[in-house]
Amino acid sequence: MATNRTFTMIKPDAVANGHAGKIIDHITQAGYKIVALKYTKLSTELAGEFYGIHRERPFFADLVQFMTSGPIYAAILEKDNAVEDFRKLIGATDPQKAEPGTIRNLYAKSIDANAIHGSDSDENAAIEGNFFFSQFERF
Ligand code: RTP
Ligand code: MG
Repeated sequence: MATNRTFTMIKPDAVANGHAGKIIDHITQAGYKIVALKYTKLSTELAGEFYGIHRERPFFADLVQFMTSGPIYAAILEKDNAVEDFRKLIGATDPQKAEPGTIRNLYAKSIDANAIHGSDSDENAAIEGNFFFSQFERF
C-alpha cells in the first residue's frame, strides 16, 4: 500500500560541497512537503546504530567514518507513495548507475560519497524518522 512519509539525510559530502540548498529545492519541487528538518552531526555511536543493518558488511567502517565526517541535514518528507517515489528521485546507490536528472546523478561523486539517503521501506521510514525527531518537531 502506498504511504505518505519517508525519511532522508543530505550526507556530509553534499553539505560540504554547498549542494544542500539545491537538493532541498529539488525535493520540494518534486512535491514533497517538509514535515521535520534538522541540521546536525552524527556521532560514531549514532551512525553505527542508524546503519546497524550493515554492521557485518565490508563497507561498514568506511560508511560510519564518512557519515560522521561532517554535518548533515535530516528530514521527514510527506507525499503520496513517498518511499518508492523518493528512491526514484535520488537514483541508484552508485551514482555512476543513477539515472540522469536524479539527485545522486547530479550531486554525488562515488558510492561512498553519494549525497543523500532515502528510506527503503515504510517500516524503516518510521524507525528512521523516530531516530531523529520527537513529536514536537513535526509540522
Ligand atoms: P542509503 O541507505 O544511504 O540511502 O543508501 P542505499 O539504500 O542506496 O544503499 P545501502 O545498501 O543501504 O547502503 C548504505 C550506504 O553504504 C554505502 N555502500 N557502499 N561499497 C559498497 O559496495 C557499498 N554498498 C553500499 C553507500 O554509501 C550506501 O549509500
Ligand atoms: Mg539503504
